[in-house]
Amino acid sequence: MSKKAAVDLDWNNLGFSYIKTDERYISHWKDGVWDKGTLTEDNQVTISEGSTVIHYGQSCFEGLKAYRTKSGEVQLFRPEENAKRLQRSCRRLLMPEVSEEQFLSAVKQVVIANERWIPPYGTGGTLYLRPYVMGVGDNIGVAPAQEYIFGVFAIPVGAYFKGGLAPTSFIISEYDRAASHGTGGVKVGGNYASSLLPGKEAKQRSFSDCIYLDPATHTKIEEVGAANFFAITKDGRFVTPDSPSILPSITKYSLLYLAEHHLGMPVSQEDIYINQLDQYAEAGACGTAAVISPIAGIQNGEDYHVFYSETEVGPVTRRLYDLLTGIQFGDEEAPTGWIT
Ligand code: COI
Repeated sequence: MSKKAAVDLDWNNLGFSYIKTDERYISHWKDGVWDKGTLTEDNQVTISEGSTVIHYGQSCFEGLKAYRTKSGEVQLFRPEENAKRLQRSCRRLLMPEVSEEQFLSAVKQVVIANERWIPPYGTGGTLYLRPYVMGVGDNIGVAPAQEYIFGVFAIPVGAYFKGGLAPTSFIISEYDRAASHGTGGVKVGGNYASSLLPGKEAKQRSFSDCIYLDPATHTKIEEVGAANFFAITKDGRFVTPDSPSILPSITKYSLLYLAEHHLGMPVSQEDIYINQLDQYAEAGACGTAAVISPIAGIQNGEDYHVFYSETEVGPVTRRLYDLLTGIQFGDEEAPTGWIT
């Protein structure tokens, strides 16, 4: 554990912004192997101007959190799932996979090294971990790099969307997030670069973010870009969109499980048509960063559809939020294998 002085932060009002913490992990891949990696205080990464990450977007990342429990212990939520998803992203971009063992070891080392940055229990804050892999070295042709960096850093965070658990509004994007057979299903940098302009335009119009429709027909909701989408039907089912171009959110799959096994709700991954929003009593965005962010309403062209309420959290969304965060902060019993 760190012996440094306690951190003086306004733990109850953390946003989602970069803060330089004490140590981060970095490992290099060369000649077919990852080195064992090291912790460093230096938050600058120096890379060749020929790095494929700069020109061809050969990069992927993850997001997971460390939670402080009531008794002061620290726990991770399903980190093995992040390790597996990073491997899938690496495979899609022809990058070397990081073993689950190295991933978990790196994450744990960074959490322990930055223990004083983990927000206290009861503040709602968490230590957000950002693992990434990128292609580096001296390259110029469109081809996979010959060298790679795997890094993990940590930042104390609060709510991702400005309202936290307060409902906020979203707008349907006229841009596509991902092509039908493209990279939407993996967590690669390019998906997020292309979301910057639609996100900026949404925020300029006072929406929290935009919601993307399926690229082929523009009739079905896919995802929020920085989070997945879910809804509660008026007959009490938990539903999320079904598409290969959606990022497979670990929070979304956890909610599918919890809604079915803990709340006894029918659940399904199915098409959610933008012209049939009347079928849904509640809607929300979910993800590691977003946790569960209730959606007040969706603007689609000239139409604005309100779900449960513009100011109140719907009852099912509230129960799911309490259950999920209860498990993550150690107040509720977790399904086997979910907590490290
Ligand atoms: C996460 O939920 O961890 C994400 O990666 C979303 C993000 C781009 C902030």
